[in-house]
Amino acid sequence: MLAQLPVWQRRRAALGGWPDVCDDGACVVGREMWQDVRIFFGEFCRRHYTTGAIVPSGRFLAAALARYVAEPGSQGRRILEVGPGTGAVTRRIIAVMRPEDQLDLVELNERFVARLQVLFQTDPLFRRAAARSRILHCPVETVDAEGQYDLIVSGLPLNNFSPQTVENILGVLSRVLKPGGTLSFFEYIALRAMRMAVSGRAQRQRLRGVRDAIAKLLDGAEIRRDWVWLNVPPAWVHHVRLAQPSPRHYTCH
Ligand SMILES: C[S@@+](CC[C@H](N)C(=O)[O-])C[C@H]1O[C@@H](n2cnc3c(N)ncnc32)[C@H](O)[C@@H]1O
Repeated sequence: MLAQLPVWQRRRAALGGWPDVCDDGACVVGREMWQDVRIFFGEFCRRHYTTGAIVPSGRFLAAALARYVAEPGSQGRRILEVGPGTGAVTRRIIAVMRPEDQLDLVELNERFVARLQVLFQTDPLFRRAAARSRILHCPVETVDAEGQYDLIVSGLPLNNFSPQTVENILGVLSRVLKPGGTLSFFEYIALRAMRMAVSGRAQRQRLRGVRDAIAKLLDGAEIRRDWVWLNVPPAWVHHVRLAQPSPRHYTCH
């Protein structure tokens, strides 16, 4: 469609504005998408360390992250999404969650929080879940909800953080997850290995620490790994189920 437009409108679209010539549903969706990409890229430039990606996740990655939200199971689940950004994965979670489920979104960045608030007021899909959703504007490290979430979906850029921060965050996520609950999170395929190959000693040591912290969580707890090739860049989604505590064992005399 863009190819049929005059040059000035194509330039405008390339810079992030969407041409005004079409006002049908498809164009509104396109405009919204452009806006999200623009906001996301702006935040990547401003806060590369916590934003961790140039563009929002694609729909295949979003679908893999929300895999266990879509699974049949008990009613009235509590779902936590960590690092929702401009809501690319949130959109999928809302589309597949059930009417009794509740959704909490924990986001650090105030611009992403503002975008999510607009979506919950204006986007028909988000509005459907508005009464059952909360946006928590804070670092996930401060969430204090021990054993309360049935499902956690995380979009955090763990490979940008220090090993201590990753251990701390994974510890918090494991604590707020209900026993038997599922945590789904992603890593870009081979990105850590590539960064390690071209980094200096200090960076390599940091990345090794991050790798070890993630491996410790996955060890014996990873129930499934999805390979998502159709994403920029391609990603793995790890699904982790933490064990139900076994009943206490007493010997009777
Ligand atoms: C890679 S982006 C993922 C955004 C979105 N889930 C997606 O897939 O398009 C990482 C997100 O995590 C957020 N974030 C980073 N550190 C955080 C923290 N400590 N607590 C909460 N959110 C955090 C960032 O602001 C950003 O929205």
